[in-house]
Amino acid sequence: MSVLLPGSIQRVLVTGGAGFIGGAVVRRLLNESQIQVFNLDKCGYASDLTSIGEHERHHLLRVDLSDAEATAAAIRQADPDLVMHLAAESHVDRSIDGPGVFVSSNVLGTFNLLQAVRSHWEQLPTERQSAFRFHHISTDEVFGSLEEHGRFSETTAYDPRSPYSASKAASDHLVSAWHHTYGLPVVLTNCSNNFGPWQFPEKLIPVVILKAVAGEPIPLYGDGGNVRDWLYVEDHVDALLLAATRGESGRSYCVGGSGERTNKQVVESICALLDQRRQSSAPHAALITPVTDRPGHDRRYAIDPSRIQAELGWQPQHSFDQALAQTVDWYLAHLEWCAEMRQRSGWSGERQGLKAGHHSQ
Ligand code: NAD
Ligand code: DAU
Repeated sequence: MSVLLPGSIQRVLVTGGAGFIGGAVVRRLLNESQIQVFNLDKCGYASDLTSIGEHERHHLLRVDLSDAEATAAAIRQADPDLVMHLAAESHVDRSIDGPGVFVSSNVLGTFNLLQAVRSHWEQLPTERQSAFRFHHISTDEVFGSLEEHGRFSETTAYDPRSPYSASKAASDHLVSAWHHTYGLPVVLTNCSNNFGPWQFPEKLIPVVILKAVAGEPIPLYGDGGNVRDWLYVEDHVDALLLAATRGESGRSYCVGGSGERTNKQVVESICALLDQRRQSSAPHAALITPVTDRPGHDRRYAIDPSRIQAELGWQPQHSFDQALAQTVDWYLAHLEWCAEMRQRSGWSGERQGLKAGHHSQ
């Protein structure tokens, strides 16, 4: 699906564009349109700009959203017609170890951004003001945990259960409040688990690939029966661009690819793909090792995407199996990038998210 931007959109501010999903959004905007792209990112441990490279229409604004003044200055500089807000601390296990930065980035950061954007929007000339959108990118985790049956939809009650999901839920509520109270034109999307190239290698799929390649134990939390609804990142980008440009102001859209799998199934599929691609003395699945469960581990996520399909015509273009194979091939071709990212971040692959009792910030 190529990007069809209305002529009213000439300048887009993407927050978190040095991250996994934001980077995919920035690349799509640069490759498939002629607009100016402002990429506001604090350039944290999960950030990398290799996939974007040098581009004359790409403008990096290295700003931490928890800094209100710097955020306001960045909005003045970008002077956007559309804001796509993806910047957030995003890893559940890290939020268990150190919840403070999730509150400052995801809650305070969204508040600072909303205030700066509101002031910008209020001063826009009428035509630009009426075409303006603030698109908040959120997660299905705000809805909590499902039992065996049922799916999340736009009317599901919020029930966040991790510091990460609580901070995202708080940011969703701030965005809705700025719409209802100040009239800011907003659109929200809540998406399920993404996978694909350039994802920082601490999330399940890259962790499994890297551990298997290194011949190290592959950590499977708990009984491996937790279910996630996997979506290829480029399909998410399609949904985001549709919601940002055609979504109704004040409306939210759930995004998911009907890709439900238990973690055990995902891990076994990756091992089978690696068996076809790399020689090893034993099947890679022999490395799968049950480990202590994540504290408060949500059991199952699943999305009902009927609204975005019916109202905006979104359909995922990739099957889980095909996209997983592509992703495995991508990581095998980018092992050096993964090693560099780990080294730069100061995290070398050890288990995260078990320090719930340590009370670190
Ligand atoms: P990521 O961790 O790969 O990237 C997030 C980016 O945001 C990083 O470059 C980081 O430096 C930046 N950032 C964080 N705090 C910031 C701050 N205070 N100021 C400026 N920049 C800051 O995350 P991702 O997986 O690309 O997720 C992007 C967004 O999509 C997040 O809002 C996340 O909640 C949401 N989301 C992610 C998934 C998923 O499966 N990855 C699914 C649904 C929704
Ligand atoms: O649902 C959307 C969310 O998906 C996003 O909002 C988050 O930003 C994103 O990180 C992701 O959260 P999860 O916690 O679901 O993703 P993660 O890759 O950390 O874990 C996926 C599942 O795999 C989860 O049930 C925990 C399990 N797991 C994870 C790791 C890292 C393991 O069994 N072993 C592991 O080593």
